[in-house]
Amino acid sequence: MPNSQIVVANWKMNGTVEAAVKLAKNVVKGSAGVPATVVLCPPCVHIPYISDITKGNAVVMGGQDCHWEERGAFTGDVSAQMLKDLACEYVIVGHSERRQHHGEDNQLVRKKAESAIKVNLQPIICVGETAEERKKGKAYDVVEKQVKESVPGQSAQDQLVVAYEPVWSIGTGQVPTKNNIQEMHEHIINVLKNNFSGTYSSHKVLYGGSVKGDNALSILALEGVGGVLVGGASLNAQEFLTIVKAAK
Ligand code: PGA
Repeated sequence: MPNSQIVVANWKMNGTVEAAVKLAKNVVKGSAGVPATVVLCPPCVHIPYISDITKGNAVVMGGQDCHWEERGAFTGDVSAQMLKDLACEYVIVGHSERRQHHGEDNQLVRKKAESAIKVNLQPIICVGETAEERKKGKAYDVVEKQVKESVPGQSAQDQLVVAYEPVWSIGTGQVPTKNNIQEMHEHIINVLKNNFSGTYSSHKVLYGGSVKGDNALSILALEGVGGVLVGGASLNAQEFLTIVKAAK
């Protein structure tokens, strides 16, 4: 696990091969020499086109999801090993869009994270409360339960990343206050330390949700923020590079 902050681009289900290649080339060029670890997560069908561009550069690739089994009759799914074969180093699991639209729960997310770790891919395990849960004062409890149940028990701190992504902040332009981000990150780090035999002491916890060029610097400066997971703003090379350059 590098000590640098991690900046993850989650391109979601966007773009053509041509657009993906152009975006990746611009990001790779603009990221030369930065201290951050930059991870591009294209739609999986675009990964083979991007791997040639990232090869030999500091930018690495990740998948947006993986199945929990190694192989088999799972139509439409992609295994962690398949992503590994395509030179991915990370995979996002448990993104709120998967939890919401594909009915994924904590147990399933943990199995996916386990399958990633098994093939030496680092899972980026997403957690975060809904607007309703925050309104009811349940944000800390919800996130604590998600962390306890989604993080594999036997894994070590250098094998995975946790991303705090409040659901109400994703794609909305609404960002929690700096205090809220910092407090939730401290909470997550404590939950990891208290429940996983202290193996998570220097763990990376990323923030995600409406990270843009103009708020990245202040978010990345917060204590306990190990990096950012960027959706919409990662589709624009210039804006994404502003975020990349804000990372330490
Ligand atoms: P956003 O998405 O940056 O567009 O809010 C973040 C995410 O879903 O990972």
